[in-house]
Amino acid sequence: MTISHENELEKLREIGRIVANVLRDMQAAARPGMTTGELDAIGAKLLDAAGARSAPQVTYDFPGATCISINEQIAHGIPGARVIEEGDLINIDVSAEKDGFFGDTGASMVVGTPDVRLARLTRDGKRALWTGIGQVKTGARLNGIGRAIEAFARKNRYTLVRNLASHGVGRALHEEPEHLATWNDPSDRRVMHEGLVFTIEPFLSLGATWAAETDDGWTLVSAPNAPTVQYEHTMVVTRRGAMVLTQPG
Ligand code: CO
Ligand code: CO
Repeated sequence: MTISHENELEKLREIGRIVANVLRDMQAAARPGMTTGELDAIGAKLLDAAGARSAPQVTYDFPGATCISINEQIAHGIPGARVIEEGDLINIDVSAEKDGFFGDTGASMVVGTPDVRLARLTRDGKRALWTGIGQVKTGARLNGIGRAIEAFARKNRYTLVRNLASHGVGRALHEEPEHLATWNDPSDRRVMHEGLVFTIEPFLSLGATWAAETDDGWTLVSAPNAPTVQYEHTMVVTRRGAMVLTQPG
């Protein structure tokens, strides 16, 4: 969506804060021995208490309140009986709706003490996201985001998953502009206009270039199998740069 009234910004800020707080609290609660279903139940309760509804649930009938993906799983993992183990790389993606407005955020983390390789990957996953956010400005090309993230990934010898894109958000979980590449796509000539709301969510990896479907119809796994992280924020384009909506508070 494109914001045209102050009250729309207020609503987006509210749902942005809600999903950011739920993500933060779920990350704090994640520990070895817990199932992903138990962790999701915490998220579901927090969303409910905030008066918000799970976006994947209301939009796609997803079988969970949040998406929780572990190790080889990189996105859209279904919460359930899988037990979180010490050292697991876990991604939690929280998106929700309140009063007709949607926010979307996600982050990866290591449960327990990360090894050096995963500590570096999670640190750089955040840097990749913020490299993209730094390109946001009224009048700039949307492809500037993917171009900058790809340059960052190459320089630091990472790969990017190239079939999971960022997207417009606001009045729906996924809306125009669709298919925002977090890699360089010079064919994308679209420009960021004032008030445009979208996500940036690069998938940075130690070797994967693709997200492959699995038999459950939801879960996506890294291909080739390699540790992969995702960090995601929802933001609004302004003349001064990105206004990030999915900040806890
Ligand atoms: Co998301
Ligand atoms: Co998203």
